[in-house]
Amino acid sequence: MRVLVTGGAGYIGSVSVELLVEAGHEVTVLDDLSTGHRGAVSARAKLEVGTYGDTAAVTTLLEKNRIEAILHCAAKSIVGESMTDPGKYFRENVGGGVALLEAMRATKVRRIVFSSTAATYGMPERTPIVEADPVRPINAYGETKRIVESAIGWYCRAYGLRSVILRYFNVAGATVEHGEMHVPETHLIPALLEAVAEGRQATIFGDDYPTPDGTCIRDYIHVEDLALAHLKALEATAHNDKRTGPSSGPTEALICNLGNGKGFSNRQVVRAVEAATGRSLGVKIGPRRPGDPPILVASADKANEVLGWKPRLGSLDEMIGSAWAWKQSHPSGYR
Ligand code: UFG
Repeated sequence: MRVLVTGGAGYIGSVSVELLVEAGHEVTVLDDLSTGHRGAVSARAKLEVGTYGDTAAVTTLLEKNRIEAILHCAAKSIVGESMTDPGKYFRENVGGGVALLEAMRATKVRRIVFSSTAATYGMPERTPIVEADPVRPINAYGETKRIVESAIGWYCRAYGLRSVILRYFNVAGATVEHGEMHVPETHLIPALLEAVAEGRQATIFGDDYPTPDGTCIRDYIHVEDLALAHLKALEATAHNDKRTGPSSGPTEALICNLGNGKGFSNRQVVRAVEAATGRSLGVKIGPRRPGDPPILVASADKANEVLGWKPRLGSLDEMIGSAWAWKQSHPSGYR
């Protein structure tokens, strides 16, 4: 299949590209390199540097590369930043997302897998969260993803898009070739590993949440498992695949959570990082970070039943161990 991966130079995108090319797909990456890295793009994929928010340019790109399906990973995705600079998130994620859908409409590219997020659920009423639960984001990032999900839904009804929306929980870990590198690093596991490597203190944002140890609880999923889910989701968007609707007329997006169904508190993650690295970590407790829900844990039953996907690298040790190994083999990241 000829696939366009937006954000293919980013953390999740680069691992997805690695697995797509390994599976024999022809991959074009579209990335503006604002947070992604040129060096993260597999040598077997073609890199186009640019934005997905320019309908005319994307239309040309889709035609030129005869793209059959899109994996839309690109987005601004930092919860804290979305609370202080929401405009950037609405402009990029929502404005850009609609521009991309318009390019699909213009070129009749109908297949899309969209990277959405557990942040769409906001403060869940129950745990684990199922896909039919209400989506009421409590941060601007989650809200922008909810809006793009909704736009995809309307394009499905109007133009018969074949789409899978994947709501990721907390992604961690690395392959041998690709790992996580953000500047600055805001995600818990890589931030803790950075603190370990640099011998400095890490901060836990809040220990007064309504959880057993007072710190937030998240459901972690290995990035390689996530990439495998993308491959399965892309298959489900095939023209004759009933999971994404009838082969003509209006369709409906298939929405699946991607998580492990198990939650770990921030304190438990700190202990797991100490165990995996064999070093102790000085941790101080800081104030809560705006926009953080106390608990986000997925039910991944639907992804299992409908996509035939199950996390294979589900232990925190595997995720942290692989992230630490990548960090040690790439001391300067992709630089
Ligand atoms: N945290 C700290 N210290 C840090 C960094 C993070 O205590 O230095 C805490 C956060 O406050 C939160 C938890 O660790 O309680 C996880 O935070 P991350 O920033 O690692 O991840 P988020 O849960 O905020 O967000 C991630 C993705 C989102 C996705 C969400 C789904 O970045 O895109 O998971 O659960 F929506």
